[in-house]
Amino acid sequence: MLFTILLLLITILALLLRYSGRSRDNEPPLDKGLIPWLGHALEFGKDAAKFLARMKNKHGDIFTVCVAGQYITVLLDPNSYDDVLYDTDSFDSRRSKGLLMEKVFSLVLPSDNPEKERKWMEGHFQGVGLDKLQSSMDSHLRDLLLADQRGCGTAQWREEGLFDLCYGLLFRAGYLTMFTRDENADAVYKQFRNFDKLLPKLARSSLKGEDKKSVTSSQESLWQLLAPALLEGGRDAGCWQESYQRYLGEAGVDAETQRKALLMHLWTTQVRLEPSCFLSGHSVTSLSLALSRSLALSLFTHRPSHNVAQTTAHSVLRETLRLTAAAFISREVMADGKKLGVSGGLEYCLRKGDKVLLFPFLCPQMDPEIHQQPESFRYKRFLNDDMSEKRIFYKGGSRLKHYNMPWGAERKGCVGKQFAISTVKMFVFTVLRHLELEMCEPSDPLPQFNPQRYGFGMLQPIGDLQVRYRFKRN
Ligand code: HEM
Repeated sequence: MLFTILLLLITILALLLRYSGRSRDNEPPLDKGLIPWLGHALEFGKDAAKFLARMKNKHGDIFTVCVAGQYITVLLDPNSYDDVLYDTDSFDSRRSKGLLMEKVFSLVLPSDNPEKERKWMEGHFQGVGLDKLQSSMDSHLRDLLLADQRGCGTAQWREEGLFDLCYGLLFRAGYLTMFTRDENADAVYKQFRNFDKLLPKLARSSLKGEDKKSVTSSQESLWQLLAPALLEGGRDAGCWQESYQRYLGEAGVDAETQRKALLMHLWTTQVRLEPSCFLSGHSVTSLSLALSRSLALSLFTHRPSHNVAQTTAHSVLRETLRLTAAAFISREVMADGKKLGVSGGLEYCLRKGDKVLLFPFLCPQMDPEIHQQPESFRYKRFLNDDMSEKRIFYKGGSRLKHYNMPWGAERKGCVGKQFAISTVKMFVFTVLRHLELEMCEPSDPLPQFNPQRYGFGMLQPIGDLQVRYRFKRN
């Protein structure tokens, strides 16, 4: 008993010393918060964007905050992002990624060869692999939509939330594409939706009572549904799921861990598409009122025939992603005293073991100096007056390389970027082609986004926008 109390006191003392002993020269401004160890954890978890914007106003583009015992240096200067993203010796992504994987997916994977893993992913999501994925996604989207039509008469109007419509259709099509299966999709969707809803709280260890039971139950059901044994005999021997299992097997990963890894990858590859389609779907539905349905449709064919349609469609998509892509990009500092420069010529020293966090959502995406009225959706934001793509944006008088960063670092960021772009376009095209779709209340504003999802890929709306639709007669 005495020993336990002594150990507890020593731990508290060590934490307090660590907490108070940070005053070296040339370090970023430190904001520890009022509560020892906990620091700013509560405010950060509640609405990270609001909290970080407050800190930016107080300290500038770089500062260190304490969040539940972890020191996080937040960098909000897009001109310095590449110094972190491309210096993989000094800033390592594996530990942060590993901790999150363990907490959310109960998954520990051998990460001895990130280059090999990246190459394997590129083989599937780019080049020939991409063509295969795109055509499979295209036919699944169409088949699912038309299967729904068989269940009801063509003249019958239906009402549904737009986000629900996007999520249900895209998730099932994405699952069927990646796992090449034609069963289970509805059961996987139901459990996945619940798991995804509770994921931010799971990651922050703030789940309580019923929610805790519910997330555990969905996670276990998903492991069962995705279990390699159940999925054996997929129709396509070269499909992504089969190849991923082989890749993991060769790395010595057992079957139990493989199914956890399948869930983690299902989440990484699916969960960002739905919000993009929700907002693109909303803007195109509104645009088709303002322009004409056939013009709106022509923007989203797979290969728009003329440049204006292509640049306009890309501008809609870029604007959608600017408003919804809100991932944290997190790295660990590998060397004590590592120097990091920011605009204006100042240079700061970082500490080994601290986390460096980039949050492109706040800057550049929502920075009013870069994008006027950043909260509003302007589909022409990324177009010049002559309708060519707008690539020149400034901050503080200097031209910016990064003015919109939904995909993370260019060469080392999202490996599924091309697939994601083509899927959003395919989705909007398929829906417009087969459905007559209108807002139930055209004057309703877009719902607020859920502030607890900052950091977890894409923002999702709280609530939904009701739409009315019926199938077109051919
Ligand atoms: C609009 C949709 C999407 C957005 C905005 C997006 C964005 C991102 C971002 C910001 C990252 C983290 C990059 C970093 O840490 O530097 C990422 C990682 C990743 N994305 Fe996407 N993504 C999307 C859709 C997809 C799709 C459809 C796939 C594949 C089917 C995909 C596959 C991946 C994979 C595998 C990673 C992990 C890469 C790694 O660990 O090196 N993404 N994505």
